[in-house]
Amino acid sequence: MRPFGGARIVLGVSGGIAAYKSGWVARLLAAAGAEVDVVMTRAATEFIAPLTFEALTGRAVHTDLFSPGRALDHIHLARDADALVIAPATADFLARAAHGRADDLLAACLLATTAPVLLFPAMNDAMWAHPQTQRNAAHLRDLGYTVVDPEVGALAAGEGSGPGRMPEPEIIVAHVGRVLDDASLRGRTVVVTAGPTRERIDPVRFLSNRSSGKMGVAIASAAWRRGARVVLIAGPLEVADPVGPSLVRVETTDEMAEAVRQAMPGAHALIMAAAPADFGAADPAASKIKKADGPASIALAATTDILACTVRHRPPGLVTVGFALETDHLLESARAKLADKQLDLIVANSANEPDAGFGADTNRVTILAPDGSADPIPVMSKTSLADVILDRVEALLRAR
Ligand code: CTP
Repeated sequence: MRPFGGARIVLGVSGGIAAYKSGWVARLLAAAGAEVDVVMTRAATEFIAPLTFEALTGRAVHTDLFSPGRALDHIHLARDADALVIAPATADFLARAAHGRADDLLAACLLATTAPVLLFPAMNDAMWAHPQTQRNAAHLRDLGYTVVDPEVGALAAGEGSGPGRMPEPEIIVAHVGRVLDDASLRGRTVVVTAGPTRERIDPVRFLSNRSSGKMGVAIASAAWRRGARVVLIAGPLEVADPVGPSLVRVETTDEMAEAVRQAMPGAHALIMAAAPADFGAADPAASKIKKADGPASIALAATTDILACTVRHRPPGLVTVGFALETDHLLESARAKLADKQLDLIVANSANEPDAGFGADTNRVTILAPDGSADPIPVMSKTSLADVILDRVEALLRAR
């Protein structure tokens, strides 16, 4: 997959130690299909050689506003870009950008572009915390630029740990994906659930299921890329936490139900991709059940049906999507759940196919709607299916 195929990205590198990670950013962007033009400040060239970027992107690197014969570089670079990404952005660069300076090629590109601008500040924690730097970052946000807060973590050698670290290249690339997207969900809040829940039997044992969380995480990531504010409510996941959505971790079905209830005000869509455990122990033991006196059977009690409970809290116009995983009578059971849980869509998948359902990277589903329609979707990756589901959600939101 070449998610950034055809995109033209200007990667600006200013002079901080995090510049060593920018080589990897350039490499990932190029591998995703983008045409990457690197623009370096003079100080950046003290940390990493332009040749490194040239080898990684296969394109000439720009360093000088006044190169003979290339005086209009900044106009061309800036005009043709789909996104301008500055990583790292030093305290000095933020200050120059906030004042509209054009004293080097990178600052001039910033003034000449109409493309979305993403800045990744990285510096010593005291410099980041300084009110002047904070004011500069706030002003840049007011100008419409996206300024991604640095992470807390190890800083340059001997400088300990604090907020100031540039995010890892994969995270930077996820943010670039978001600005390149058409932002069709900007201004919307999407609540997604993912993964299984666990119901305690005793302090060391639980009842659960084989849900991996892949489908829900794919939907949450795709919604965030489309510009939505995303709340991801997740049980234990087998996949990495997604970049972007705000993550609420839960363990039990009741905890998931409560997190969903709290996320409802202001939500535009609820997508229940989680597989909450339907049963818990009727009477969980306070101490570990010993093998010798273990029960021959465990009495079970049903947990809350989260979707059914949301009916009375759903904000007006909420688009509600459920999933149905079945081993038998797939479409009839899914249709019954669509009606019982008062859903706008249900995504039905069979637990009997190797390329679908729990744990698989692909899914083969049929999307059912209350008007009686049933659209079979060909087998595809869960990431692609997330986009198919969100296209349907967007169509419903537009119609409301
Ligand atoms: N769901 C829910 N609360 C539960 C169980 C499931 O909100 N306690 C949601 C799931 O997230 C999914 C939909 O309901 O979107 C259908 O889940 P599924 O497990 O297929 O159905 P159940 O309602 O649990 O019914 P059954 O187990 O009888 O198939």
